[in-house]
Amino acid sequence: MLRQAVTALVFVLVIAGMLVPRPAYPHNPTTTTVLFNREIATLLQRKCVQCHADGKLAMPLVTFDQTRPWAEAIKEETLSRRMPPWPAERGFGAYANDIGLTPREFEFLISWIDGGVPEGTDPAPAFVDHGDHWTLGMPDVVAAPTTAAAVDARSAPAFKHLTIDTGLTHDGWVRAIDFKPDPRVARGAFLSVAGTGQYLGGWTPWQSSTELPAGAAFKLPAHARIAVDVMYSGSSQPISDTPQLALYFAAAPAAAPVITTTLRAMADARTPARFVAEFKAADARALVSMRPELPAGTRSLEIKLMRPDGSREVLLWMKDAHQVWPTPYVFKKPVTLPAGSVLQAVAYAESGADQSRSGADPAGPRFTLTLNHYAAK
Ligand code: HEC
Repeated sequence: MLRQAVTALVFVLVIAGMLVPRPAYPHNPTTTTVLFNREIATLLQRKCVQCHADGKLAMPLVTFDQTRPWAEAIKEETLSRRMPPWPAERGFGAYANDIGLTPREFEFLISWIDGGVPEGTDPAPAFVDHGDHWTLGMPDVVAAPTTAAAVDARSAPAFKHLTIDTGLTHDGWVRAIDFKPDPRVARGAFLSVAGTGQYLGGWTPWQSSTELPAGAAFKLPAHARIAVDVMYSGSSQPISDTPQLALYFAAAPAAAPVITTTLRAMADARTPARFVAEFKAADARALVSMRPELPAGTRSLEIKLMRPDGSREVLLWMKDAHQVWPTPYVFKKPVTLPAGSVLQAVAYAESGADQSRSGADPAGPRFTLTLNHYAAK
């Protein structure tokens, strides 16, 4: 009896200990030259405050006093690569929206935390919230859904579907989009043209806009409606969100229309945990962006380009798929797929995962991969 009570008490204390932030090394001497007001504040501004600030998804990490109690937790979360939430492994493909820590940033963080979290005496760089304005300048059109998304307090991450009427009276060529959902509750979003499935791009808390390379644009038909899937997680109070979509039009019809291909992966007959999807480029294509949709129970995803000259390049390698951080992959520079190339995506399901869990049809697609591309010169 007593033993059980003691065990229970210890358990309660451990849980309580996990809930309150622990001060990091309160009495340790400083053994690092890395300072909060210099390297760390700018690092947090580059990679963390898009979500860790007042009015955003998570606890603020803007000032020294806000960050210091979280030092040990920051070390844990970044070591385990849960934070920042960028699921792709470093070294494969170059992405414009990559928020992963570079090895150098990682060293700075660990050195600062292990070295006694010194603040520094110079003033910290000011925090500017870029979420308040359209980063690409004045949009040509701003549209919003007629029905708001109701996000219940403390609800678990889940997608909600919204439709935005563009109100366009003639066809247009879109060269860029920007999107503004409520930053307290939105974790990611994907936009496409209702009916045609043309993928327009994604939104994440750290990269709101997508701009196409010069000369490339999406065709948006007159009266087009935009289908938006937003992943929301509840905050402390219920929130009703009416996100705004900004469209930027090209002056002339695009020389290089961007089109969407959606691949559906099927189970490999010989290896049931392996799922494969392939895209064969009949003519040379420039690949702009990719959107993998991986059901729960997916362990890894590899996307590989196999050129007709026999060369191979891994464009994306994801060891741990994050279900709660849907991520679009936008190439820094479009990747050229010479005519005859094959883009191959291979996913593995977790061992023991129920293959039929993700849908009613166990023989149906295991994952989908959406590709945006245009004719390469
Ligand atoms: C895209 C948004 C986003 C970015 C970017 C981000 N975080 Fe987070 N972070 C969250 C959210 C949301 C949580 C709360 C847990 C969850 O919902 O996954 C969290 C949780 C944490 C926690 C754990 C808090 C706890 O309760 O133990 C730490 C520590 C952390 N983040 C540090 C960082 C650091 C350091 C960076 C930058 C290097 C960073 N995060 C970047 C959204 C983000």
